[in-house]
Amino acid sequence: MGPNSTDVNAPPDADRVNIFDTTLRDGEQSPGISLNAAEKVEIAQQLVRLGVDVIEAGFPIASPGDFEAVQAIARTVEGPVICGLARTHKADIDAAWGAVKDAERPRIHTFISTSDIHIEHQMQTDREDVKGQAKAAVTMARAYCDNVEFSPMDATRSDFEYTAEVLQIAIDAGATVINVPDTVGYATPEEYAAMWRRFYELVPDLLKVETSVHCHDDLGLAVANSYAGVMAGCRQVECAINGLGERAGNCSLEEIAMLIRVREDAHGFTTGINSREIARTSRLVSRLTGYPVQPNKAIVGRNAFAHESGIHQDGVLKERTTFEIMDAREVGFESNSIVLGKHSGRHALKDALEQLGYKVDGNALNSAFKTFKEVADRKKQVTALDLEAIVSDEMRDRADAHELASFEVTAATGKEPLARIGVSLPSGEEVVGESSGDGPIDAIFRAIQAAVGIESEMVKYTVEAVTGGEDALGEVTVQLRTNGALASGSGVATDIIEASARAYLRALSNSLEGAATREAEAATAEAAIERTGP
Ligand code: KIV
Ligand code: ZN
Repeated sequence: MGPNSTDVNAPPDADRVNIFDTTLRDGEQSPGISLNAAEKVEIAQQLVRLGVDVIEAGFPIASPGDFEAVQAIARTVEGPVICGLARTHKADIDAAWGAVKDAERPRIHTFISTSDIHIEHQMQTDREDVKGQAKAAVTMARAYCDNVEFSPMDATRSDFEYTAEVLQIAIDAGATVINVPDTVGYATPEEYAAMWRRFYELVPDLLKVETSVHCHDDLGLAVANSYAGVMAGCRQVECAINGLGERAGNCSLEEIAMLIRVREDAHGFTTGINSREIARTSRLVSRLTGYPVQPNKAIVGRNAFAHESGIHQDGVLKERTTFEIMDAREVGFESNSIVLGKHSGRHALKDALEQLGYKVDGNALNSAFKTFKEVADRKKQVTALDLEAIVSDEMRDRADAHELASFEVTAATGKEPLARIGVSLPSGEEVVGESSGDGPIDAIFRAIQAAVGIESEMVKYTVEAVTGGEDALGEVTVQLRTNGALASGSGVATDIIEASARAYLRALSNSLEGAATREAEAATAEAAIERTGP
């Protein structure tokens, strides 16, 4: 069954591998990531441009914030199947359905562990009970929705004969997709493929449903294991942008998609991924999550197409394929082709943004144009990467957030720098704080704390140049812990101090929002439901 088919029982397109993106669910379970609903919708819209088949938008029972975000995606994002995760409890399935039911193509994904370690220690129950829960959950989900995925959690450490019985029960109850996860990233590719072959033997009905892989990267094998699963017959891969996910993360979407594309000669499979959107999606997710991409990361790292040694550079100049197995343009790294300058007008900016996939009009265009002019005054050439960073930065401005109203840093010789920062509060009121500090960045962070009267612990601070060159825009990411909630924010400006102040205030707003959500959750009776995530 391909998700592009309207008939959930239609046979699969044998060579097509469906990409199930779980950046917003498993990816969002990475420590310190806390995306608000607007950011999740923004990522989901980019995932549509990227061409994913399924978006796992969240775990609706986990919190009111998760529910709202999944619902917002279901209501506004068109194209892919929109999926909500649920344990086998009725309340979870009700919440998942409540959140996805307005989607064009909704799916409920329900899971329960089949390993004895989880059954005995985590759930403190027995194998028979798990069978009953799996049957009840899939039956309940099918009563709502004709597209239901079932996963036996920790399957790779489970007794395969027993797990096969659970899979058969799920299929009999109406599951249309069977996903078998390597939850703790323990399997080797040979083992994972052998497990699938065994399941196909034990459960011939697997041929009637879509089969799916979900592999974690604890031993760095998530992509290899997912690929092994595809070679063993599975046609859905669950993965996340930049490999985000619990602990060491999930199979990286960009890696598996390019592996399937570049080595089509070896296997004959394809995906619906528009590879030219890969780099942009990776940058967006990195910006919004505050998780930087390691420079040597395959496909999306900034060095993924850089050649350092003279021999390699020489070879690539003579013939690109001497040391490159794919063209950087194939994954969207060529976006420096658009160049605007300080004389470019509003129309040129609007056109350039449209080419980049941003429809910006009215006040948003006025505000983007104002920022563009400021940047263009200081920077000779404004490239597509700069525009993307500017627009992305503008989109971070929210009416309900703390915003930078003014900033000034003075430094007399031999004295600590002094910062004076104006902050506009969510109420609209403007407050000002002053502080000296151990360097200008320390001074502005202290001045912000003085202005807003909220102490936060600085967990991470990174600065990166958006493009090369001395006049490059700087992108700062700050991770803060405020009232126990960890969150990140980023800011872009030609001035690192300004970018830092913006990043700090966005991280502060996000962590205050996270803390408020946690308090709301604690106050609801539902908080009593065990919240151990998968
Ligand atoms: O890793 C896992 O087992 C999961 C399941 C919910 C599919 O994330
Ligand atoms: Zn997982």
